[in-house]
Amino acid sequence: MRPLIAGNWKMHGNLREAVRLAEGLREGVDGVDLLVCPPFVHLHPVAVVALGSRVAVGAQDCHAAGKGAHTGDVSAAMVRDTGATHVILGHSERRQNHAETDASVMAKTEAALAAGLIPVVCVGETEAERLAGRAEAVVTEQLAGSIPYGFITAGGIVAYEPVWAIGTGRTPTEEEVAAIHATMRHALVESFGPAARTTRLLYGGSVKPGNAAGIFALEHVDGALVGGASLVAADFLAIARAVPE
Ligand code: PGA
Repeated sequence: MRPLIAGNWKMHGNLREAVRLAEGLREGVDGVDLLVCPPFVHLHPVAVVALGSRVAVGAQDCHAAGKGAHTGDVSAAMVRDTGATHVILGHSERRQNHAETDASVMAKTEAALAAGLIPVVCVGETEAERLAGRAEAVVTEQLAGSIPYGFITAGGIVAYEPVWAIGTGRTPTEEEVAAIHATMRHALVESFGPAARTTRLLYGGSVKPGNAAGIFALEHVDGALVGGASLVAADFLAIARAVPE
């Protein structure tokens, strides 16, 4: 399966920096799909820069409703209209800061699919949950609660992001990543059938050029969701080049 390296730009940069960063990625990396997820207000200009290149563009969230009195929110169709093709949903920062639950992530994912967007659904345990030996149970429960019917056949993507590894420079061991990814694959195939064998499972949380190759070599790791290191074109491309040929 073709690996995907996705960049989550979070709430960083201004318009000029966003456009420059996208320009720096246009050349792409052979054999790898690239995705960048800028803030809403930079989606359209970045999509224009990415047009005709090997870089896809996605949002970091969308609303579950098609339209309505939702001040400050953005619908999946509005995201699609910018030229974006993907949307990150259920990132732990949204789950924590905006009280998103599995049920709301499921509703947003359904809205994204209905609008023709490819969802990138994030799951992952907190440090306390890992220490309590509950990491696999938490991730399995999140998958069951937030992945709707139709996700697999539409090419939906799952990102495993342990909350304690995001932006901290700490990562699980390669064995721990492999164990969770095997669990996720098993759970998805159990629920959705053999088509889920080709669902891309990304790892996210402090992925850097220096640790990417070891992570990408693991079975059932089909790419990465990268935060901090996606803000520098050279680092993001170096991570993409670490994908084994
Ligand atoms: P990080 O963020 O690479 O800065 O740890 C990953 C993410 O939140 O997607």
